[in-house]
Amino acid sequence: MRRLTPVALMIALAATATLLALGGCAPEKAQPVKTVQIPDGEIDPAVWGKAYPTEYEMWKKTEEPTPAGKSKYKRGFDADKITYDKLSEFPYMALLFNGWGFGIAYNEPRGHANMVRDQLEIDAARVKAGGVCLTCKTPYAPKLQKEMAADYYKKPFKDVLGQIPEKYKTLGVACIDCHDNKDMTLKISRGFTLGEALKTMGVDQAKLSRQEMRSLVCAQCHVTYNIPKDAEKKSVGVYFPWQGSKMGNISVENIIKQIRSDASVGEWTQTVTGFKMGFIRHPEYELFSNNSVHWKAGAACTDCHMPYTRVGAFKVSDHRVMSPLKSDMKACMQCHTEKPEWLRDQVFAIQDRIVSLMLRSGYATATVAKLFEKVHAVQAEGKQIDKALYDKAKDLYEEAFYRCVFIGAENSVGFHNPTEAMRVLGDATAFATKAEALLRQALAKAGVDVPLTVNLELNKYLENRGEHKLHFDPKVEIKDPYGVQVRF
Ligand code: HEC
Ligand code: HEC
Ligand code: HEC
Ligand code: HEC
Repeated sequence: MRRLTPVALMIALAATATLLALGGCAPEKAQPVKTVQIPDGEIDPAVWGKAYPTEYEMWKKTEEPTPAGKSKYKRGFDADKITYDKLSEFPYMALLFNGWGFGIAYNEPRGHANMVRDQLEIDAARVKAGGVCLTCKTPYAPKLQKEMAADYYKKPFKDVLGQIPEKYKTLGVACIDCHDNKDMTLKISRGFTLGEALKTMGVDQAKLSRQEMRSLVCAQCHVTYNIPKDAEKKSVGVYFPWQGSKMGNISVENIIKQIRSDASVGEWTQTVTGFKMGFIRHPEYELFSNNSVHWKAGAACTDCHMPYTRVGAFKVSDHRVMSPLKSDMKACMQCHTEKPEWLRDQVFAIQDRIVSLMLRSGYATATVAKLFEKVHAVQAEGKQIDKALYDKAKDLYEEAFYRCVFIGAENSVGFHNPTEAMRVLGDATAFATKAEALLRQALAKAGVDVPLTVNLELNKYLENRGEHKLHFDPKVEIKDPYGVQVRF
C-alpha cells in the first residue's frame, strides 16, 4: 500500500473541489544511491553528496542567480545584478534604523550558498555583535558554540570565523544542519537556540511529527532572536523571544513584551529619538505558524520552498530552496488545481495590500520619531513638556515601531499569513497615529508650533551610509501600488 504524507492525507480529507490529492508522492524513504557511510559530525556536503548526488547537485544550485522578473517584491538575487537594498525600497526604514548596522546596509536575501559571503561583504557594522552573528550562517555554529562557550558570542566576528577551516569558511547551510547522517531523517542541529526555545514553550522534542520537522528545520534560522549584552555591551548569548507563547501561536504581542521587558536586549540607540531599542529579524516561522490558512491546512515551509520534483528515476525534494514564484508556482500546484498565473496573481494581490499598509504604518511611525526629535530639541532649550503625554506617546511609539519591524523583516511580504500581517500593520498605524496626536498636543501646550507636514529629512539617512558610502537608489524604491498618499 502506498503511504500518504501527512499533507496528502490532510488534502485527501479536505476533499474540497479545488484541491487535488497528492497521492503518496513523497519518496518512501531516503535510499542512498551508493552505500557510503557518512561519518558522525561530517560537515562537508561533498561527502554526503557521494551517497545522495541528486540532492547535493540541487543544493549547490542555491549559489546561482534566480530567474529575473518573476517575483514582484523579493527581487533579492535575480539575474539583473541590482542590489535590492531594503533602505532604498522602503526609505522610512533608513530613518527608523539610523544608529546601527541595519540603518547602513540591509539587503534582500538571496540563495543559501551565499550566506557567509554576503556577511563578509556587508558593512562591518552589521557583524559588530561578534561571533554570535554566525549562528544562522555556518554549519560550524553548534560546534563553535560548544567549544568556545561564552567566547563564541562575544569575540569579534572575524576571530570566530577564523576558527573554521579555510576550505569551509564561506560554506552556508549544509546537510548536517537539517539531517541525521545515519538515516537522513530531519534533525534540529541548533539545540542551543531552537532547542531551548521549544523547551520554553513546553514542546517535547521527542514527540514532534515529521510534518512539524519540515518547518522546524527552517525555524532554526528563519525566526527572530535577541542578543543579550553585558555591562560592557558585549554579546553574552542568543535566545528566541517565545516566552509566554505556544507552538502554533507565537504572537507579536508576546515577542514585543519580551523585548521590552528585558533591558539587556536593548542592542542599539536610535539616532532620531535617542531611545535604546531592541530589534526583530526575519520572523518567517512565527508569522506562518500563527494560525495562518496554510499552517492550519497542515502545510510546512518545505511544501512551498522545496517541492517534490522528478529527477530521472527519482522523486526528490528540490534542495534548491527559493521563492515559489521563481519556479513558476510548481510548489503550489502540488495541492492547488488553479493555473500558475492565477496563483501568482493571488500572491501579488496579497503582497500589494500588505505593502500599502507597510508604507502607511512605516511613514506614520517615522513621523513620530521626528516629532520626538523636535520635543527633545525644545526640551534642551529649557521648555517644559507634559510628562504624562510624553510617556504615553513613547509607549505607543515603541509598540508601533516593533510592529513595523516585524512585518518589514518578515520575508514573504505578508503572504505567509495575510490576515495576521494586516492586523499587525493596522495596529502599528493606530499606535503611531495616536502617538503623533499626543506629541502635537504636548508641543502645543509648550507653545511650540508644528507644521502640518513634518519634514522627515530622509536624504540625511539615505545618503553616504557607512564605510561603502551607500546611496539611495530611486529605481528600487517600492511605491504604494494603489497610488495612495502614505506620507502626510
Ligand atoms: C542555518 C540557517 C538557515 C536554515 C536552517 C535555513 N535558512 Fe533559509 N536562509 C538563511 C539565510 C541566512 C538566508 C539569506 C542568505 C543571503 O542573503 O545571503 C536564507 C535565505 C532563504 C531564502 C531566500 C532564497 C533566495 O533565493 O532569495 C529562502 C526561500 C529560504 N531561505 C527558505 C528556507 C527554508 C524553506 C528552509 C528550511 C527548509 C531554510 N531556509 C533553512 C538561513 C537559513
Ligand atoms: C503556502 C506556501 C508557503 C509556505 C507554507 C511558506 N512559504 Fe515562504 N514564501 C511563500 C511565497 C509565495 C513567498 C513570496 C515569494 C516572492 O514574493 O517571491 C515566500 C517567501 C519566503 C521567503 C523570501 C524568499 C525570497 O526570495 O526572498 C523566505 C525566506 C521564506 N518564504 C521562508 C519560509 C519559511 C521559513 C517558511 C516556514 C516557516 C515558509 N516560507 C512557508 C510561500 C510559502
Ligand atoms: C535547510 C535544510 C536542509 C538542508 C541544508 C539539506 N536538506 Fe535534505 N531535506 C530537507 C528536507 C526538509 C527534506 C524532506 C524530508 C522529509 O520530508 O522528511 C529533505 C530530504 C532529503 C532526502 C530524502 C529524499 C528527498 O529528496 O526528499 C535526502 C536524501 C536529502 N535530503 C539529502 C540532502 C543532502 C545530501 C544535503 C546536503 C547536500 C541536504 N539534504 C541538505 C532539508 C534539508
Ligand atoms: C500542502 C498543500 C498546499 C500548498 C503546497 C499550497 N497550498 Fe494554498 N491552500 C491549501 C489549502 C488546504 C488551503 C485552504 C483551503 C482552500 O482555500 O481551498 C489553501 C488556501 C490558499 C489560498 C486562499 C487563502 C485564504 O486566505 O483564503 C491561496 C491564495 C493559496 N492557498 C495560494 C497558494 C500559493 C500561491 C501556493 C504556493 C506558493 C500555495 N497556496 C501552496 C493548500 C496548499
